Amino acid sequence: MSSHAENMGVNGELQNCPIMPTYAAPNIMFIRGEGTELWDSEGKRYLDFVGGLAVQSLGHANPEIAEVIGEQAGKLTQVSNYWATEHAHHVAVEIDKAVTGNINDPSSSPYNPIGQVFFCNSGAEANELAFKIARKATSKSKYTVITANDSFHGRTLAALAACGQPHKHEPFAPMPQGFKNIERGDIEALNDAIDETTAAIHLEPILGEGGVWPHTSDYLLKAQELSRDRGLLFMVDEVQSGLCRTGEWFAFQHHGLNPDVVCIAKALGNGFPIGAVWVKRELAASFEAGDHGSTYGGNPLGTAVARKVLEIMKRDNCNKMAQLIEEQIRTSMAELPQVVSIRGNGAMLAIELDKAISKEVAAKASMNGLLINPITPTALRLTPPLTTSEHQIQEGIQILKGILNA
Ligand SMILES: Cc1ncc(COP(=O)(O)O)c(C=O)c1O
Repeated sequence: MSSHAENMGVNGELQNCPIMPTYAAPNIMFIRGEGTELWDSEGKRYLDFVGGLAVQSLGHANPEIAEVIGEQAGKLTQVSNYWATEHAHHVAVEIDKAVTGNINDPSSSPYNPIGQVFFCNSGAEANELAFKIARKATSKSKYTVITANDSFHGRTLAALAACGQPHKHEPFAPMPQGFKNIERGDIEALNDAIDETTAAIHLEPILGEGGVWPHTSDYLLKAQELSRDRGLLFMVDEVQSGLCRTGEWFAFQHHGLNPDVVCIAKALGNGFPIGAVWVKRELAASFEAGDHGSTYGGNPLGTAVARKVLEIMKRDNCNKMAQLIEEQIRTSMAELPQVVSIRGNGAMLAIELDKAISKEVAAKASMNGLLINPITPTALRLTPPLTTSEHQIQEGIQILKGILNA
C-alpha cells in the first residue's frame, strides 16, 4: 500500500491527508480500469456497477477514447474562447440532433439546428447556466425556478439551492434566492407554487441522487403543459439520465416531451470533465457576448473526447445496450423474495429491498468484488457502463444474490 493510500484513509489514517474531508473516508484505492472492471492497489479485481455514477458509459480506459485524448493532447488542449477550435461545432450539432430526435440525420451541413449549445465542465455548471437562462430569457420580474423535493442539481451555491434536499442547505444558509422546492409528482402543488416571479420549472425526469425515482409520464406532460400555459420555461436536468443511460438519448424522450433547456454532463466525456447546456435558439438569442463564459468550456481536448463519445454511442447503439442491461437485471433480480421492486429505466436502476440493509449489502458486495451504490437505506443503485457484457451482468447478479440469500 502506498503512503498516499494510507493518507487517503485507506488504512484509516486520515489525519495527515491534505484533501478536504468532503467525502466519506475511502477504504479502497483504484489504480487501473478496463471496461466494467477495476483493480485496486492490492491487485484485487472488482466489477464496477457504479460506473463513476453514470459517467463511465463506454467503460473505463476505453481504448478509442484514450487514443483521442493522446492525439489531441499532443495537438492542442486549450486556447481562450476568444477563438474557435476544431471540434466544438461538430459536438454542438450532434447534441442538437440527439436532443431533437434527429441523431440519425446524416447531414452535418447544411444543418439547421433547433437549439444552441454552451459548453462547461460539470453538471452543476450546466445547471447554473440553466438558471441564468431562466432569468435572462423571461421577463425582468421573473427569476424563480421551481424544482422537486429530493432532486439533486449539484453543489455550487445556486445548484445547491435548487436541490430539493433542505438538510444539504442548512450548513450553508442563507441560500441564494429564487428557488422553490415542491412535492415531487404532485401537479396541484406545482400549480400552486407558480406565482408572478416564476421563470421556469426544472426537473430530473428520473431523480438520480434522490433515490432513482422516475417521474410519471402523466406528471411530466402536465408539468410541461402548465409551463406553456403560464409562460414559463420547461427545463430538464439530464446530467445523470442523459446520453443513452436510460435506453433513449435523453430520459425526457420516453415521454415525448419538448423541453426548452437540457442540462448535460457526466457521460459526455466518459470521465473527461465536460458538460453542456442545450437551449432553444429563440431563448439563446437573449444572451450576448459577455453574459456567460468558462475558461475551460468547450476546449479542444474535451470536445474531441465528446465527439468520439457521441460517435461511439451512435455507432454501437448504446440505447439498445442499456435496454438489454435493464432486461437482464429485472429478469434475474425480480424473483428474489428480498426484492420489493425495481425502478428506473435502462442502466439507471434502483433495487428496493424489504429491509434497511443497503449499506451492509453494498459493503459485502465490495468485499466480494462488486461495486454498487446504497442510494437510500433500503435501495441499491446500479449504473454500470453500458458496455457491460451479459456475462459480467450475470457475474454481478450472482454476487448480489449470494449476499441477499445469506
Ligand atoms: C441530475 C444531476 N444534476 C447535477 C449533478 C451535478 O453534477 P456535477 O457533480 O458534475 O457538478 C448531478 C451529479 O450527480 C446529477 O446527478
